[in-house]
Amino acid sequence: MDLHGLRIATLSLGEPTPEQVAAYDSLAAVGGVDHVDLAAVAAAEVTLADYDVLWWHRDRPLDWDADDGSTLATCADPIGTYLDDGGGLLLTLHALSAVSALGIDPVPPDATGHETAPAQVGYLAKAVHRDHPAFETFGAAAGDLRVYTRAADADTAFARYERVLPERGTVLAAGLRGDDYLVGQKPLVEWQVGAGSVVGAGVGLSFAHARDYECAANQERLVGNLLVALGGNRLPAFTDRPTTAAGFERLRATFADDHHRPRYHFCPPANWLNDPNGLIHHDGTYHLFYQYNPGGPNHGTIHWGHATSDDLVHWTDEPVALTPDADGPDRDGCWSGCAVDDDGTPTLLYTGGRGRDQLPCLATAATDDLRAWRKHDDNPVIEAAPTDLSILGTDHWDAEFRDHCVWREEGTWYHLIGSGVTDVGGTALLYRGDRLDEWEYVGPLLTGDWEGAGPVWECPELLDFGEKQLLHVSNYSEVPYFLGEADLTSPGFLVEEHALLDYGDFYAPQTMRDADGRNLVWAWVPEARGVEAQWHAGWSGLLTLPRVVDLGDEGRLRQRPAPELAALRGDGESETVALAADERTSLPLSGNAYELDLTLRVEAGATVELVLFESPARTERTVVRWIPGADEAEGEIVVDRSRSGHGHEDEERDQRMPLGRVTRTDEAVDEQPSVADGGSPDEPLERGTTAAAESGRRELSLRVFVDGSVVELFANESRCLTSRVYPTRPDADGVALVARDGPATVDVDAWELDGAF
Ligand code: FRU
Repeated sequence: MDLHGLRIATLSLGEPTPEQVAAYDSLAAVGGVDHVDLAAVAAAEVTLADYDVLWWHRDRPLDWDADDGSTLATCADPIGTYLDDGGGLLLTLHALSAVSALGIDPVPPDATGHETAPAQVGYLAKAVHRDHPAFETFGAAAGDLRVYTRAADADTAFARYERVLPERGTVLAAGLRGDDYLVGQKPLVEWQVGAGSVVGAGVGLSFAHARDYECAANQERLVGNLLVALGGNRLPAFTDRPTTAAGFERLRATFADDHHRPRYHFCPPANWLNDPNGLIHHDGTYHLFYQYNPGGPNHGTIHWGHATSDDLVHWTDEPVALTPDADGPDRDGCWSGCAVDDDGTPTLLYTGGRGRDQLPCLATAATDDLRAWRKHDDNPVIEAAPTDLSILGTDHWDAEFRDHCVWREEGTWYHLIGSGVTDVGGTALLYRGDRLDEWEYVGPLLTGDWEGAGPVWECPELLDFGEKQLLHVSNYSEVPYFLGEADLTSPGFLVEEHALLDYGDFYAPQTMRDADGRNLVWAWVPEARGVEAQWHAGWSGLLTLPRVVDLGDEGRLRQRPAPELAALRGDGESETVALAADERTSLPLSGNAYELDLTLRVEAGATVELVLFESPARTERTVVRWIPGADEAEGEIVVDRSRSGHGHEDEERDQRMPLGRVTRTDEAVDEQPSVADGGSPDEPLERGTTAAAESGRRELSLRVFVDGSVVELFANESRCLTSRVYPTRPDADGVALVARDGPATVDVDAWELDGAF
């Protein structure tokens, strides 16, 4: 360790343990190290300002019943002043648990103890922090994020965050055990306190039993890096939990070279995003909230991220809006929910998770910019799932009971909650009330009691199109919708038509009704790559573009990109391409953020391929294939991802979108073949017409939005397919049209699109 020139104090509470002695002995070669008992700090017998950095390594749990708590509480002031003035503090193993007593963070680590593992253990750097001084001379900057610090089979103490997140700290790394990425663990955290900093490193340090040369050397390097950076006041003023515009800008800039990162789709500033939540158009501003984990690019410790827009296409990051409350019913996460306008007061209903419970919670806007929310004193506002049904429980949950869609009709509030009935299927439970904090259970609006409907329905939402209603649910893999008539009294839902809202990577959609009465839908577009790839990217998930959903001709469901998106259009091209059979033409687009508006025409029997993300030697390509059907109105679109990139298994799956008629029935859904009983939900139950002759011209309107690693397709303004693809090469950006088995003409309008931030 090159700690020369630093004035260091090593700390203990009372007599040092053998492990502390061994740890502090590693500094023996460095001059200027003093040992300080925290009791002396508490008694004001030590001038902390004499030191550049303090290190407290503690292998035994803190004994809060003995004097530890009161000594630490007394140390909070002098240590706080020392930090405010620019001091540095390193807390290792159980010393990390002292952050709350020392006033550094109200939330202490929730997982402490000691453990042994038959593999090397250590830290997995977060990609956004790969340049952090902690990881100097390790491989992080070059892409190897692993730092092993403890030998296999060594028993060591640990203190880390698992179910909860520090309120103020920046998580620098996850856990690592052998080859396993323990992304749910948060053992390395940094705090900026005044002009000073604190780092907690809660795992994988064992100086008295350092049996493995590599690990022993690594732990010394890691501790040395931290002591030097803390003592020299050289930690970067960078956090992936920013609260200012400049902070968000810096954070987003760290991903500037990532060619998979979308430019005009909304994606999180860093870390993890899932469902869109609480969409509301308030005082002329569009507010978008979303399920967000500030701890890393993995699902866990869910907060509500927040962004605003004046025009639906350019977004501004706002500070996190909802944070789990360490003492509240949402301790383990603020899960999905919606926003309503309660006579001028924006109000959220969301699911609080705690232990084995997931229950509805309410929060009202505390400021007009919707940055601050006041949680209701009596949360949860519904105490338990209904008892007259056998609501599905699991190893983790007493009852699957979450996600909220709330609206008002003739003075009465209605409320749908997603759930599942044991051995039956997913269900959307209806409640009603005169107030938002008092609910009466009415019954299931619809239950998916057929095979393949999914055991649980998440994120149910009911949209009112006047003469008809649309219910959609997310059943863990797909988003079926039902168009028909909702009966809020009995209750029940008469299904006339059903299909999927989108045939690709699309989940948990939510709708904002804007001032013009339009239904604007966004959904989560999950990653189609594994946990490790997401960890290395440093961000995960994005949202679809806003879609206007309404009823078109003959009362059919219509889905179109919001017209506001045209504001993103830059340079454009317009041409009609005539292709002979098996001819190919390249389209003059560059980069990977663009829109295509195509009208394709072929004779029966021919197909057209739109090739996207093509590398110069064509080894990588994603093919969108239109296979017209025998009937004018049928056929399908296939997205062939088998050569999209190298090495993402999920992505190799073809995605298919039928263009045929949707299922129509006059019967209730539980009496009919299913949306998901093995086959396509679009197998028509009754054909309105017999198939047209084999010959004849076929036409398709296709809007295509390509952005980094996402492709959104809108076919005939009704069917949608969203796809994730990960070209390996940044220059895999070629676009081409190919006619197969017959000639084709294609009207092409193409635009490069600007970024959303
Ligand atoms: C859907 C979902 C919801 C839940 C949230 C948790 O993706 O599982 O049911 O509220 O995400 O993040």
